[in-house]
Amino acid sequence: MIHKDVSDKYIGPIGIFDSGYGGLTILEKIRSALPEYDYIYLGDNARTPYGTRSFDVVYRYTLECVTHLFEMGCHLVIIACNTASAKALRSIQQNDLPLIDPNRRVLGVIRPTVESVVELTKTKHIGLLATSGTVQSNSYPLEIQKLNQDIVLASEACPMWVPLIENNEHKTKGADFFIKKNIEQLLFSDQLIDTVILGCTHYPIILNQIKSFLPENIQVVSQGDLVAASLANYLQRHPEIDSKCSKNHSIRYLTTESVEKFATSASIFLNERINAEHIDLG
Ligand code: DGL
Repeated sequence: MIHKDVSDKYIGPIGIFDSGYGGLTILEKIRSALPEYDYIYLGDNARTPYGTRSFDVVYRYTLECVTHLFEMGCHLVIIACNTASAKALRSIQQNDLPLIDPNRRVLGVIRPTVESVVELTKTKHIGLLATSGTVQSNSYPLEIQKLNQDIVLASEACPMWVPLIENNEHKTKGADFFIKKNIEQLLFSDQLIDTVILGCTHYPIILNQIKSFLPENIQVVSQGDLVAASLANYLQRHPEIDSKCSKNHSIRYLTTESVEKFATSASIFLNERINAEHIDLG
């Protein structure tokens, strides 16, 4: 287990972590809902994708990134990655936080997504598009079962989607082939689906392509707005955490990859030039 002394500055930014660029889709929504806060985004771009890695590896990488954000003064870290939320969040919350600092908080993206989506479906048949890791973890069906046992969830792992997006190959015929193939397989497995969860923070980048392969009567749920609303609600309910979050409207970006590569690829996600700082982990 990794256990480092963490900086205990009284107030600090909110940390947003993803295996790569996908968390930028969450960051954008969080910043428009809560613009006054300071943020640090950490993309573990050198080790992405996490979606095909084992539990142990995703847990170790995620803990390293969360610890780094704590060391930079974050009291609250959002794991803006479904794969890391599925495979690492619970262990970090239950086993690591009490040792590192019981007053810090780490939140994921699966619970807020599920809380909204169970209210949206009429047929009670939901589809999940996600990485292999998220699907294999069973986190979505388990969380849905806790809220409503009548809901049926069909899951489809889409292992090609993240690499296509990370490599900026998602607007190609080849990408369309894989997007269409996975969607058809999902719909074939359950013809009563009326709601589809984009259970990977990279997928909003290909939202239009996804929608073009889905019938119009099926609603598509992206996580950004849901996570942002859930975070705003959390900060209201937890003034003891909110008071430790600094509020100067600032943003910093950290990457484990080269800063040039981050600047080029991140602009696909945010439509603006991003200047990141390089960090080494592990
Ligand atoms: N954005 C991550 C997620 O939500 C991508 C996972 C990966 O790195 O494969 O699952």
